[in-house]
Amino acid sequence: MDSDLSLEFLRVVEQAAIACAHTMGQGDRHKSDDVAVEAMRREMDSLAIDGTIVIGEGERDDAPMLYIGEKVGRGGGPRVDIAVDPLEGTNLCATGSPNAIAVLAAASAGGLLHAPDLYMEKLIVGPSSKDAVDLDAPVADNLKAIARCLDRKVADLVVVVLDRERHGGLIAEIRAAGARIQLITDGDLSAGISAAVRGSGIHAVMGTGGAPEGVLTAAAMRCLNGEILARLVVKKPEDEERCHAMGITDVRRVYRARDLASAESIIFAATGVTDGSFMRGVRLFGDGIRTSSIVMQTAPHRVRFIDSIHVDTRPDVKIRFER
Ligand code: FBP
Repeated sequence: MDSDLSLEFLRVVEQAAIACAHTMGQGDRHKSDDVAVEAMRREMDSLAIDGTIVIGEGERDDAPMLYIGEKVGRGGGPRVDIAVDPLEGTNLCATGSPNAIAVLAAASAGGLLHAPDLYMEKLIVGPSSKDAVDLDAPVADNLKAIARCLDRKVADLVVVVLDRERHGGLIAEIRAAGARIQLITDGDLSAGISAAVRGSGIHAVMGTGGAPEGVLTAAAMRCLNGEILARLVVKKPEDEERCHAMGITDVRRVYRARDLASAESIIFAATGVTDGSFMRGVRLFGDGIRTSSIVMQTAPHRVRFIDSIHVDTRPDVKIRFER
Protein backbone atom coordinates (compact mmCIF):
# COMPACT_ATOMS: atom_id res chain seq x y z
CA MET A 1 0.00 0.00 0.00
CA ASP A 2 1.40 3.39 -0.99
CA SER A 3 2.39 5.36 2.11
CA ASP A 4 1.22 8.58 0.40
CA LEU A 5 -2.31 7.30 0.92
CA SER A 6 -1.98 8.22 4.59
CA LEU A 7 -2.59 11.89 3.85
CA GLU A 8 -5.60 10.98 1.73
CA PHE A 9 -7.02 9.00 4.64
CA LEU A 10 -6.27 11.96 6.90
CA ARG A 11 -8.64 14.04 4.76
CA VAL A 12 -11.36 11.42 5.25
CA VAL A 13 -11.22 11.43 9.06
CA GLU A 14 -10.87 15.21 9.17
CA GLN A 15 -14.08 15.67 7.19
CA ALA A 16 -15.99 13.14 9.30
CA ALA A 17 -14.83 14.88 12.48
CA ILE A 18 -15.75 18.33 11.19
CA ALA A 19 -19.23 17.17 10.17
CA CYS A 20 -20.16 15.70 13.53
CA ALA A 21 -18.40 18.39 15.56
CA HIS A 22 -21.11 20.79 14.35
CA THR A 23 -23.61 18.66 16.31
CA MET A 24 -21.55 18.58 19.53
CA GLY A 25 -23.66 18.79 22.65
CA GLN A 26 -26.97 18.69 20.81
CA GLY A 27 -27.90 15.50 22.61
CA ASP A 28 -28.66 13.56 19.43
CA ARG A 29 -26.12 10.74 19.09
CA HIS A 30 -27.82 9.29 16.00
CA LYS A 31 -27.67 12.61 14.16
CA SER A 32 -24.01 13.04 15.13
CA ASP A 33 -23.24 9.56 13.81
CA ASP A 34 -25.27 10.03 10.61
CA VAL A 35 -23.47 13.21 9.56
CA ALA A 36 -20.06 11.67 10.31
CA VAL A 37 -20.92 8.60 8.22
CA GLU A 38 -22.18 10.72 5.35
CA ALA A 39 -19.08 12.92 5.30
CA MET A 40 -16.72 9.97 5.57
CA ARG A 41 -18.50 8.11 2.78
CA ARG A 42 -18.41 11.15 0.48
CA GLU A 43 -14.73 11.84 1.08
CA MET A 44 -13.79 8.19 0.71
CA ASP A 45 -14.97 8.19 -2.90
CA SER A 46 -12.41 10.80 -3.92
CA LEU A 47 -9.59 8.36 -3.11
CA ALA A 48 -7.77 6.50 -5.89
CA ILE A 49 -8.25 3.09 -4.27
CA ASP A 50 -10.24 -0.08 -4.80
CA GLY A 51 -11.47 -0.12 -1.22
CA THR A 52 -13.69 -2.55 0.65
CA ILE A 53 -15.23 -1.79 4.03
CA VAL A 54 -14.49 -4.74 6.33
CA ILE A 55 -15.47 -3.11 9.64
CA GLY A 56 -18.21 -0.55 9.27
CA GLU A 57 -21.69 0.53 10.20
CA GLY A 58 -23.13 -2.98 10.13
CA GLU A 59 -24.67 -5.29 7.56
CA ARG A 60 -26.00 -3.87 4.32
CA ASP A 61 -29.64 -4.32 5.43
CA ASP A 62 -29.36 -1.97 8.39
CA ALA A 63 -26.69 0.46 7.20
CA PRO A 64 -27.18 2.50 4.02
CA MET A 65 -23.55 3.63 3.93
CA LEU A 66 -20.17 2.24 4.95
CA TYR A 67 -21.71 -1.19 5.43
CA ILE A 68 -19.53 -4.28 5.58
CA GLY A 69 -18.58 -5.33 2.07
CA GLU A 70 -19.33 -1.93 0.51
CA LYS A 71 -16.91 -0.87 -2.21
CA VAL A 72 -15.41 2.58 -1.75
CA GLY A 73 -12.95 4.76 -3.65
CA ARG A 74 -12.90 5.89 -7.27
CA GLY A 75 -10.87 2.88 -8.38
CA GLY A 76 -7.65 2.73 -10.30
CA GLY A 77 -5.56 2.18 -7.18
CA PRO A 78 -4.50 -0.56 -4.78
CA ARG A 79 -6.93 -3.06 -3.24
CA VAL A 80 -7.39 -1.87 0.30
CA ASP A 81 -9.46 -3.22 3.22
CA ILE A 82 -10.78 -0.49 5.47
CA ALA A 83 -12.12 -0.50 9.03
CA VAL A 84 -14.06 2.64 9.91
CA ASP A 85 -15.68 4.21 12.91
CA PRO A 86 -16.81 7.60 11.59
CA LEU A 87 -17.68 8.66 15.14
CA GLU A 88 -16.16 6.61 17.97
CA GLY A 89 -18.00 7.82 21.07
CA THR A 90 -21.38 8.92 19.75
CA ASN A 91 -22.54 9.79 23.29
CA LEU A 92 -19.32 11.72 23.93
CA CYS A 93 -20.04 13.95 20.92
CA ALA A 94 -23.74 14.29 21.79
CA THR A 95 -22.83 15.47 25.29
CA GLY A 96 -19.68 17.42 24.38
CA SER A 97 -17.54 15.12 26.54
CA PRO A 98 -13.84 14.42 25.88
CA ASN A 99 -12.33 11.77 23.58
CA ALA A 100 -14.81 11.47 20.71
CA ILE A 101 -12.83 10.75 17.51
CA ALA A 102 -13.37 9.98 13.82
CA VAL A 103 -11.16 7.03 12.92
CA LEU A 104 -10.20 4.49 10.27
CA ALA A 105 -7.58 1.88 9.60
CA ALA A 106 -6.54 0.67 6.16
CA ALA A 107 -4.50 -2.38 5.14
CA SER A 108 -3.68 -4.33 2.03
CA ALA A 109 -6.56 -6.68 1.14
CA GLY A 110 -7.01 -9.44 3.72
CA GLY A 111 -4.98 -7.61 6.36
CA LEU A 112 -7.73 -6.85 8.89
CA LEU A 113 -9.95 -9.36 10.71
CA HIS A 114 -13.55 -9.29 9.55
CA ALA A 115 -15.07 -9.14 13.02
CA PRO A 116 -18.82 -9.16 13.64
CA ASP A 117 -20.30 -6.40 15.79
CA LEU A 118 -20.13 -8.40 19.02
CA TYR A 119 -18.44 -7.65 22.32
CA MET A 120 -14.78 -8.46 22.80
CA GLU A 121 -12.78 -9.04 26.00
CA LYS A 122 -9.71 -6.81 25.83
CA LEU A 123 -6.44 -6.25 27.61
CA ILE A 124 -4.44 -3.40 26.10
CA VAL A 125 -0.91 -2.45 27.18
CA GLY A 126 2.10 -0.56 25.88
CA PRO A 127 5.37 -1.86 24.38
CA SER A 128 7.11 -2.57 27.71
CA SER A 129 4.44 -4.96 29.00
CA LYS A 130 3.36 -6.59 25.75
CA ASP A 131 4.97 -9.98 26.39
CA ALA A 132 4.25 -10.10 30.12
CA VAL A 133 0.44 -10.21 30.22
CA ASP A 134 -2.08 -12.97 29.61
CA LEU A 135 -5.82 -12.51 28.97
CA ASP A 136 -6.61 -15.53 31.17
CA ALA A 137 -4.29 -14.67 34.06
CA PRO A 138 -5.76 -13.27 37.30
CA VAL A 139 -6.10 -9.46 37.16
CA ALA A 140 -3.68 -9.07 40.09
CA ASP A 141 -1.00 -11.09 38.25
CA ASN A 142 -1.32 -8.97 35.12
CA LEU A 143 -1.07 -5.79 37.18
CA LYS A 144 2.06 -7.07 38.94
CA ALA A 145 3.59 -7.94 35.56
CA ILE A 146 2.78 -4.50 34.10
CA ALA A 147 4.19 -2.77 37.19
CA ARG A 148 7.38 -4.86 36.98
CA CYS A 149 7.84 -4.03 33.29
CA LEU A 150 7.30 -0.33 33.95
CA ASP A 151 9.58 -0.41 36.98
CA ARG A 152 6.98 0.90 39.41
CA LYS A 153 4.53 -0.25 42.07
CA VAL A 154 1.07 -1.64 41.31
CA ALA A 155 -0.29 1.29 43.33
CA ASP A 156 1.23 3.66 40.72
CA LEU A 157 -0.65 2.12 37.79
CA VAL A 158 -3.76 3.64 36.20
CA VAL A 159 -6.10 1.20 34.47
CA VAL A 160 -8.92 2.43 32.22
CA VAL A 161 -12.21 0.54 32.45
CA LEU A 162 -15.54 1.27 30.72
CA ASP A 163 -18.03 2.20 33.45
CA ARG A 164 -20.48 -0.66 32.90
CA GLU A 165 -22.36 -2.98 35.25
CA ARG A 166 -20.66 -5.97 33.60
CA HIS A 167 -17.33 -4.71 34.93
CA GLY A 168 -18.30 -4.82 38.63
CA GLY A 169 -16.12 -7.88 39.31
CA LEU A 170 -13.18 -6.57 37.28
CA ILE A 171 -13.25 -3.20 39.06
CA ALA A 172 -13.33 -4.94 42.45
CA GLU A 173 -10.31 -7.06 41.48
CA ILE A 174 -8.30 -4.04 40.28
CA ARG A 175 -9.13 -2.17 43.50
CA ALA A 176 -8.19 -5.20 45.61
CA ALA A 177 -4.84 -5.39 43.79
CA GLY A 178 -4.22 -1.75 44.72
CA ALA A 179 -4.02 -0.14 41.28
CA ARG A 180 -5.82 3.08 40.43
CA ILE A 181 -8.74 3.16 38.00
CA GLN A 182 -10.05 5.67 35.48
CA LEU A 183 -13.68 4.87 34.69
CA ILE A 184 -14.79 6.13 31.28
CA THR A 185 -18.33 6.40 29.96
CA ASP A 186 -17.31 5.51 26.37
CA GLY A 187 -14.36 5.35 24.00
CA ASP A 188 -12.10 2.40 24.79
CA LEU A 189 -10.26 2.95 21.49
CA SER A 190 -8.87 6.35 22.55
CA ALA A 191 -7.99 4.83 25.91
CA GLY A 192 -6.15 2.00 24.16
CA ILE A 193 -4.01 4.47 22.24
CA SER A 194 -3.16 6.21 25.53
CA ALA A 195 -2.12 2.91 27.12
CA ALA A 196 0.43 2.37 24.34
CA VAL A 197 2.09 5.76 24.70
CA ARG A 198 4.61 6.52 27.47
CA GLY A 199 3.77 9.66 29.39
CA SER A 200 0.01 9.47 28.91
CA GLY A 201 -0.55 8.44 32.52
CA ILE A 202 -2.54 5.37 31.40
CA HIS A 203 -0.91 1.95 31.77
CA ALA A 204 -3.59 -0.52 30.66
CA VAL A 205 -7.16 -0.87 29.44
CA MET A 206 -9.13 -3.84 30.74
CA GLY A 207 -12.66 -5.10 30.15
CA THR A 208 -15.20 -5.81 27.46
CA GLY A 209 -16.02 -3.40 24.63
CA GLY A 210 -16.94 -3.50 20.95
CA ALA A 211 -15.13 -5.95 18.65
CA PRO A 212 -14.95 -3.42 15.77
CA GLU A 213 -13.16 -1.00 18.11
CA GLY A 214 -10.90 -3.94 19.03
CA VAL A 215 -9.74 -4.37 15.42
CA LEU A 216 -9.14 -0.62 15.08
CA THR A 217 -7.19 -0.69 18.35
CA ALA A 218 -5.09 -3.55 16.97
CA ALA A 219 -4.21 -1.47 13.91
CA ALA A 220 -3.13 1.37 16.22
CA MET A 221 -1.11 -1.06 18.36
CA ARG A 222 0.75 -2.31 15.27
CA CYS A 223 1.83 1.29 14.64
CA LEU A 224 2.63 2.07 18.29
CA ASN A 225 4.25 -1.30 19.09
CA GLY A 226 1.67 -1.84 21.84
CA GLU A 227 -0.44 -4.94 22.34
CA ILE A 228 -4.08 -5.94 22.54
CA LEU A 229 -5.06 -9.39 23.77
CA ALA A 230 -8.64 -10.05 22.82
CA ARG A 231 -11.36 -12.69 22.59
CA LEU A 232 -14.82 -12.39 21.05
CA VAL A 233 -17.74 -12.74 23.46
CA VAL A 234 -19.88 -15.40 21.81
CA LYS A 235 -22.87 -16.34 23.94
CA LYS A 236 -25.62 -17.41 21.55
CA PRO A 237 -25.68 -19.83 18.60
CA GLU A 238 -26.62 -16.82 16.39
CA ASP A 239 -23.38 -15.08 17.43
CA GLU A 240 -21.43 -18.17 16.49
CA GLU A 241 -23.16 -18.29 13.11
CA ARG A 242 -22.27 -14.64 12.50
CA CYS A 243 -18.63 -15.44 13.27
CA HIS A 244 -18.64 -18.43 10.93
CA ALA A 245 -20.23 -16.32 8.17
CA MET A 246 -17.25 -13.94 8.49
CA GLY A 247 -14.74 -16.76 8.29
CA ILE A 248 -13.98 -17.10 12.02
CA THR A 249 -13.92 -20.79 12.91
CA ASP A 250 -12.41 -20.77 16.43
CA VAL A 251 -14.67 -18.37 18.35
CA ARG A 252 -12.71 -18.85 21.63
CA ARG A 253 -9.39 -17.82 20.09
CA VAL A 254 -7.27 -15.28 21.93
CA TYR A 255 -6.08 -12.74 19.37
CA ARG A 256 -3.08 -10.45 19.51
CA ALA A 257 -2.67 -7.20 17.55
CA ARG A 258 -0.87 -9.12 14.77
CA ASP A 259 -3.83 -11.48 14.39
CA LEU A 260 -6.50 -8.77 14.29
CA ALA A 261 -4.47 -6.49 12.02
CA SER A 262 -2.11 -8.84 10.20
CA ALA A 263 -1.04 -6.78 7.18
CA GLU A 264 2.58 -5.68 6.90
CA SER A 265 1.42 -2.27 5.72
CA ILE A 266 -1.18 -0.55 7.90
CA ILE A 267 -2.37 3.03 7.99
CA PHE A 268 -4.28 4.37 11.00
CA ALA A 269 -5.82 7.86 10.99
CA ALA A 270 -7.93 9.62 13.61
CA THR A 271 -9.13 13.19 14.12
CA GLY A 272 -10.36 14.57 17.43
CA VAL A 273 -14.02 15.56 17.50
CA THR A 274 -14.00 16.70 21.13
CA ASP A 275 -10.85 17.45 23.14
CA GLY A 276 -8.82 14.39 24.10
CA SER A 277 -5.46 13.35 25.48
CA PHE A 278 -3.54 13.54 22.18
CA MET A 279 -5.79 15.53 19.92
CA ARG A 280 -7.81 18.64 20.45
CA GLY A 281 -11.39 18.68 19.29
CA VAL A 282 -12.57 20.47 16.16
CA ARG A 283 -12.36 24.26 16.64
CA LEU A 284 -14.56 26.59 14.63
CA PHE A 285 -12.80 29.97 14.69
CA GLY A 286 -14.85 32.11 12.35
CA ASP A 287 -12.31 32.25 9.50
CA GLY A 288 -12.10 28.50 9.23
CA ILE A 289 -11.88 25.23 11.08
CA ARG A 290 -8.91 23.78 12.89
CA THR A 291 -8.46 20.03 13.36
CA SER A 292 -5.99 17.92 15.25
CA SER A 293 -5.18 14.40 14.06
CA ILE A 294 -2.87 11.46 14.44
CA VAL A 295 -1.73 9.54 11.35
CA MET A 296 0.33 6.41 11.84
CA GLN A 297 1.84 3.82 9.51
CA THR A 298 3.82 0.62 9.80
CA ALA A 299 5.70 0.98 6.50
CA PRO A 300 7.50 3.31 6.68
CA HIS A 301 7.05 3.23 10.46
CA ARG A 302 5.87 6.73 11.28
CA VAL A 303 3.62 8.48 13.79
CA ARG A 304 2.53 11.98 12.87
CA PHE A 305 0.51 14.52 14.85
CA ILE A 306 -1.13 16.81 12.33
CA ASP A 307 -2.70 20.17 12.98
CA SER A 308 -4.72 21.44 9.99
CA ILE A 309 -6.42 24.72 9.30
CA HIS A 310 -9.26 24.39 6.82
CA VAL A 311 -9.47 27.99 5.64
CA ASP A 312 -12.75 29.66 4.69
CA THR A 313 -13.15 30.72 1.06
CA ARG A 314 -13.74 34.39 1.99
CA PRO A 315 -11.01 36.77 0.66
CA ASP A 316 -10.24 38.48 4.00
CA VAL A 317 -9.63 35.45 6.21
CA LYS A 318 -7.03 35.68 8.98
CA ILE A 319 -4.90 32.79 10.23
CA ARG A 320 -3.77 32.96 13.83
CA PHE A 321 -0.69 31.16 15.13
CA GLU A 322 -1.37 29.08 18.19
CA ARG A 323 0.67 26.39 19.95
P1 FBP B 1 -20.23 4.21 19.92
O1 FBP B 1 -19.30 5.16 19.31
O2 FBP B 1 -20.83 3.25 18.94
O3 FBP B 1 -21.26 4.89 20.75
O4 FBP B 1 -19.35 3.25 20.88
C1 FBP B 1 -18.63 3.76 21.96
C2 FBP B 1 -18.14 2.65 22.88
O5 FBP B 1 -17.99 3.18 24.19
C3 FBP B 1 -16.83 1.98 22.45
O6 FBP B 1 -15.70 2.78 22.71
C4 FBP B 1 -16.85 0.71 23.24
O7 FBP B 1 -16.00 -0.29 22.69
C5 FBP B 1 -18.31 0.32 23.16
O8 FBP B 1 -19.04 1.54 22.92
C6 FBP B 1 -18.84 -0.32 24.41
O9 FBP B 1 -20.13 -0.75 24.18
P2 FBP B 1 -21.33 -0.58 25.23
O10 FBP B 1 -21.69 0.87 25.26
O11 FBP B 1 -22.42 -1.41 24.68
O12 FBP B 1 -20.82 -1.04 26.54
